[in-house]
Amino acid sequence: MTSSSPAVKAQGLRKVFGDKVAVHDLTLIVERGEVFGFLGPNGAGKTTSVKMLLSLISPTAGSAQILNAPLDNPDIRSKVGFLPEHFRFHDWLTGEEFLYLHADLYHMPRDAATIRIAELLELVDLTKHKDKKIQEYSKGMLQRIGLAQAMLNRPELIFLDEPTSGLDPVGRRLVRDIIRDLREAGTTVFLNSHMLSEVEITCDRVAFIKQGEVIRISQLQALIEGELSVEIRARNLRPEIIDGLSRWSANIRADDEHLSLTLDGEADLPAITRYLVEQGVDLYSIRPNTISLEDLFIQIVGTDGGL
Ligand SMILES: Nc1ncnc2c1ncn2[C@@H]1O[C@H](COP(=O)(O)OP(=O)(O)OP(=O)(O)O)[C@@H](O)[C@H]1O
Ligand SMILES: [Mg+2]
Repeated sequence: MTSSSPAVKAQGLRKVFGDKVAVHDLTLIVERGEVFGFLGPNGAGKTTSVKMLLSLISPTAGSAQILNAPLDNPDIRSKVGFLPEHFRFHDWLTGEEFLYLHADLYHMPRDAATIRIAELLELVDLTKHKDKKIQEYSKGMLQRIGLAQAMLNRPELIFLDEPTSGLDPVGRRLVRDIIRDLREAGTTVFLNSHMLSEVEITCDRVAFIKQGEVIRISQLQALIEGELSVEIRARNLRPEIIDGLSRWSANIRADDEHLSLTLDGEADLPAITRYLVEQGVDLYSIRPNTISLEDLFIQIVGTDGGL
């Protein structure tokens, strides 16, 4: 196996349930060491795609390799980690027992497992709850023990299906930091998400999927830097003044004292400021923001894509 081979390579993967096409044609490459965001609305086919890549369900058509091996190669499984979306863990076990169970499934030697489990419990901030039964865990604690489970074998490739669902802001930050650590360690991360704030910060590349079809794959930076949204707060904004802004922006929303518009970059900001002042507008603030991934998501995927 060469390490320059992609971490994930999918060619025309398709999954049909009855008459429902869950995934139409999944063709993509995820390079080693990348944090890859797989973004799409509810029901877009994200979980189905991941389950095919993990060989948990078989594709109706198409083929794929992960870590340079076909999907059904059992040797690969020891190098992959998975945080499922809706997991039902053995909830009569304590958090620690649960991790030992998974360590046994990986045939980890006991001593190594003990060290690794202590390290992971610390990382996901569950050391103090390790002796509690999983059924007593809160949603956030469950999600975090699931994450520890997914990292147990120091995977080369880790699939995280909605890792921040159910997490409070502190938990979300913890996941974001863990993803950063994984990237630093050279782990490839395949991240399913429809909650974009944490992805915005961590992903190298993103794919947008809608109704079973990948509609765009792009470097995250290129997407974010492409557009600038500007928030303006001002008084005496007469309609003809707002109309006059259309020479700089095709996308203007006005609401009482607030104006928001999108620009291709920041070059026109001084001219816009000058124009508003010359028109007698009382300008209180003009604030350029790079466009959020959430806005982009709506622009790219639209508001009609979800279920
Ligand atoms: N086992 C199944 N049997 C029938 N239909 C299914 C099955 N699994 C998924 N589907 C359908 O396939 C489509 C894609 O579902 P999937 O769970 O992959 O979406 P998703 O992008 O993960 O959504 P979410 O963001 O809600 O998790 C949906 O229309 C779903 O109802
Ligand atoms: Mg899903």
